[in-house]
Amino acid sequence: MLFITSAMIQKNAPAIKKSRILVTCAKGIAPFLREELIRLGFPVLTESVAGIGTEGSIDDTLRLNLMLRTAHRVLFLIRECVAMDAGGLYRELAGIPWEEFIAEDGYVCVTSSVDNPSITDSRYANLKAKDAIVDRISARRGRRPDSGHDKSRSVVNVYWKGRECAVYLDTSGEALSQRGYRKLPLSAPMQETLAAAVVMATGWDGTRDFINPMCGSGTLAIEAAWIALNRAPGLLRNNFGFMHIKGYHKPLWQSLRSRALQESRNSMTCRILATDISRQAIEAARQNAAQAGVENMIEFSVCDYRKTPLTDNTGIVMLNPEYGQRLGNPGTLEETYREIGNFFKQRCIGMTGYVFSGNLEMSKKIRLKTKRRIPFFNGGIECRLMEYELYAGSRRKADDPS
Ligand SMILES: C[S@@+](CC[C@H](N)C(=O)[O-])C[C@H]1O[C@@H](n2cnc3c(N)ncnc32)[C@H](O)[C@@H]1O
Repeated sequence: MLFITSAMIQKNAPAIKKSRILVTCAKGIAPFLREELIRLGFPVLTESVAGIGTEGSIDDTLRLNLMLRTAHRVLFLIRECVAMDAGGLYRELAGIPWEEFIAEDGYVCVTSSVDNPSITDSRYANLKAKDAIVDRISARRGRRPDSGHDKSRSVVNVYWKGRECAVYLDTSGEALSQRGYRKLPLSAPMQETLAAAVVMATGWDGTRDFINPMCGSGTLAIEAAWIALNRAPGLLRNNFGFMHIKGYHKPLWQSLRSRALQESRNSMTCRILATDISRQAIEAARQNAAQAGVENMIEFSVCDYRKTPLTDNTGIVMLNPEYGQRLGNPGTLEETYREIGNFFKQRCIGMTGYVFSGNLEMSKKIRLKTKRRIPFFNGGIECRLMEYELYAGSRRKADDPS
């Protein structure tokens, strides 16, 4: 339980105590986000392909930003209204008491998603919304905040579809996929939030070994380590949108952080191995793991994936080969996918194999029967996480389309 002290009682708190909260995520990740929200004790009020609606106070958004592994942004609803055109949007937004949320010497960035027949360029809607906010604050406080595209301070999000408009405080600011550990991304890295969802899809809880050949910049292995250590994904970040909203409850944030640190483990019983054929990739992965505080918990080595040292024969082996769209030579790609099937059959018996790929045609070349095929999207590319139960004599079909 969180212990509230008098020092934590909020001063200058914004007028809205409780509201709807929209937690956005990458397309396809909502089922994992839903599970996370339920585990944290938040109700699921709405669900779409790229977001879950819940409710709570602005203080609740601090915990959501700290704890959610698969969320993109945490948006706190402050007004729903009807706007026919840009003039209507300006009038509605100028009626919101922005002086209670944004300091006159602060800074505001407006982002939006606009589908209104009178607007051909969403930047115009952003401009009108920004004008309404700064004009209102200037009229009430005699000074207008700065504004621009920088999302590292106050961020206001406008969702305007047809006549209906929802106005949110973006309590995340920069997207939550930016955990703060990936300094060296290399090419085609997986977003941290997607990697967390992919690891969660395996049901991995840190009791079996996690083997990650083709680890690239190490995102899957690092997210797996954080899950095993019960490490809150927001612990490394020192800046969120909520910190720039008036009445920011700093003692509560410090308390939530301390509690998350106490609840995270310092060691794990399983092993995590990450290998890649590229020395540069392993160097980047090692540095990213060091930033993430898990360098000593992941065993790195440079090798072809087929030479990856295998440990526990009941563990997980997960590969994210190149898809061909962005990386990889199509000529050698087919052989790589074909060889993954042989690697699984020859060296990974007893383990559960996973391949994450956006090349659904190539994936058939693995020629092993899939137990599950879980859909995901990576940067607009439709992907699958394919699960293979690797028992002796795993059924093999020619170019298995299952
Ligand atoms: C799509 S990237 C993996 C990206 C990774 N999931 C991340 O988040 O950074 C594929 C990786 O496979 C590696 N790779 C390609 N062929 C390999 C092979 N034969 N053996 C081991 N690694 C290989 C590449 O060097 C590259 O780092």
